Amino acid sequence: MGPAKEQSKFNAELQPAVYIKKIDKRTEIEGKELPVNAVDSSMGKQGCSLCFTPRPIIANESAMKTNSDIPPQKLTGNNLLRLVLILATAIAIIFLWARSNGLSELRSIAAERLVLYKGTLNSALEKYRYLPYFLSRDETVVQMLSGRSGKGVVNTLLETANKKAGSAQIFIMDKNGETVCASNWNTSTTFVGQNYGFRPYFKDAMAGGEGGFYAIGATTGTPGYFMSHPVYDFQKAAGAAPIGVVVVKVDLSGLERHWMEGGEIVFVSDANGVIFLSGNPGWKYKSLLPLSAEILKNIRQRKQYKGINLTPLPLERGSAGQDNWIRIGTEKFFLGSLFLESFNWQLNYLIPWNRLEKQVNFALYISSAAGVLLILSILFAQERRLKKLSQQKAMEAEKIGRINRKLKREVEERRRTETHLRQTQEELVQSAKLAALGQMAAAIVHELNQPISAIRTYAASCRLMAGQGKTEDLTATLMSISDITKSMEGITRQLKDFSRKSPLDMRPVNVEAPVARAVDLMRYAIDEAGCSLSIRKPEVPLSVMGDRLRLEQVFVNLIKNSLDAMAGQENKIISVRFREEDDTVCIHFRDSGPGIEPDLKDKIFTPFFTTKAKGDGLGLGLSISAGIVKEMSGRLALEEARGPGASFSIRLRKETLKDTP
Ligand SMILES: Nc1ncnc2c1ncn2[C@@H]1O[C@H](COP(=O)(O)OP(=O)(O)OP(=O)(O)O)[C@@H](O)[C@H]1O
Ligand SMILES: [Mg+2]
Repeated sequence: MGPAKEQSKFNAELQPAVYIKKIDKRTEIEGKELPVNAVDSSMGKQGCSLCFTPRPIIANESAMKTNSDIPPQKLTGNNLLRLVLILATAIAIIFLWARSNGLSELRSIAAERLVLYKGTLNSALEKYRYLPYFLSRDETVVQMLSGRSGKGVVNTLLETANKKAGSAQIFIMDKNGETVCASNWNTSTTFVGQNYGFRPYFKDAMAGGEGGFYAIGATTGTPGYFMSHPVYDFQKAAGAAPIGVVVVKVDLSGLERHWMEGGEIVFVSDANGVIFLSGNPGWKYKSLLPLSAEILKNIRQRKQYKGINLTPLPLERGSAGQDNWIRIGTEKFFLGSLFLESFNWQLNYLIPWNRLEKQVNFALYISSAAGVLLILSILFAQERRLKKLSQQKAMEAEKIGRINRKLKREVEERRRTETHLRQTQEELVQSAKLAALGQMAAAIVHELNQPISAIRTYAASCRLMAGQGKTEDLTATLMSISDITKSMEGITRQLKDFSRKSPLDMRPVNVEAPVARAVDLMRYAIDEAGCSLSIRKPEVPLSVMGDRLRLEQVFVNLIKNSLDAMAGQENKIISVRFREEDDTVCIHFRDSGPGIEPDLKDKIFTPFFTTKAKGDGLGLGLSISAGIVKEMSGRLALEEARGPGASFSIRLRKETLKDTP
């Protein structure tokens, strides 16, 4: 709400109280506008400038509207919804951010762990890599395979070497794949006599290379990694075929145990996707993909996983482009893989997906909590603001209450003053009345005394004349008495005019008409006094609203006064001018007499004030005339003299000349 509206509302609440900007210095309290119930239009006359009655200014002061009433932005349903939407969007962004952040963290953890596990796997195998080579170069081994020496020495050598190196088994095959010597030569599950010619490691070594192959032992049934090296007869020419193969079997179960104990999920799958090393025994010898009949046949031929029914793991993978996840059974994991080129294996590292979920959920909890906290703090802040506002309002109401109470006291005081002033005024009026009455009585007594004594004298004369029978003289004297009573009647009529009001006959009057008529009525006296008239016609006919006869009376009075004032001087001029002023017509009446003394200016309109000799005037002419003009809503005033003589103005409401008589 704008300040203007606010103000109007404020005003409306105070209705019907009237606003006054400033009453006087005492009522202007702290520069505020004060409500009052009524403004006495009669003020001003007697100095009692204002009368107002207090009322219960504001029924509920705290309900008063002030500037601080501009309501604070409330957390409305819509605003709340908007805020919740913003928060929900923020939370969604945080969710996505936390997820992608969590995923990249998982990715880097997996990459790091895979490198680590690759290292441990490599070192677990590579530490035996020298052994087949070393044994293939051994003199006794070569001699034995060449048939130049016995197997006993070699068996002992292999047994000792196996113990020292910590490998699972060491054995030597002849060029047909038959095991001729083995570290377990003296056990019930000895490899000696077994033919492993079907194993790839034998074939690879016989082809001149180094072999490596993970398989379940065909004799022992224990799995291991077989690494082989060809044995050459040094006595034969270079390029001759190997005469046998040295094989070292490495047990990797310790590694698996280590993984299991570490609580981490690591597994290794071969080129066909068959898991052969795993910290989780349940996944071992399960394939990551369904195995085709050809692959299964190939595996069977090499007896790689002898006695094992290879079945696929119940798994589901995130499709391409999606996050790298895998679901095994009911558990979902992040999958990190590393291809081990030298073995043609895949090293896999799994991280439970719920770790990511935990992270994301944590971020969500934190952001939701922050959001809720934000909403709560907004509500709290708003609550505080409202509280502060209501405190402010209460303070303002209290302040206004104080002002009102003060105002009430002032009003009471003013009312008392007004009563007092009224009394004084009435007393003054009474005194003025009494004074006027005294003046009037004196004037009447004086006016009437003379004719009465004249009548008495005439009456005595009449008695004498009647006694003497002089009837002719008697008639003349009686005529004189009659004249005297007429003049007495004139005096009493004047008094009657003054005291009694007859209703005005208001109608449009051409201003020139009453002036002309008054001149006609006074023609004899004007001419006798030798006074000249200067009456200038207006440029356009001017009409006023008034009573024509009463206006004539006004001008007769003015002419009479002027003639009286100019009596005894040579140049006697009366001038009349008409002027149009906005919605009024002004008639300027001026004479060339002595004018009015400054100290008499305030008195000449007072009834019974006269400077004339007793019997020449009652002092009623101007006061009657001013009263007549005022009744017509006009004003008769003494003008500032611009030259010699007295100047009067009569202002009356202008009328159109239509219907003017
Ligand atoms: N034109 C004038 N020039 C000088 N004095 C004037 C003029 N008109 C009025 N006065 C003064 O004002 C006084 C009051 O005039 P007003 O007409 O009321 O009474 P009056 O003429 O004395 O008596 P009345 O009019 O009752 O016969 C006069 O006595 C006179 O002193
Ligand atoms: Mg007069």
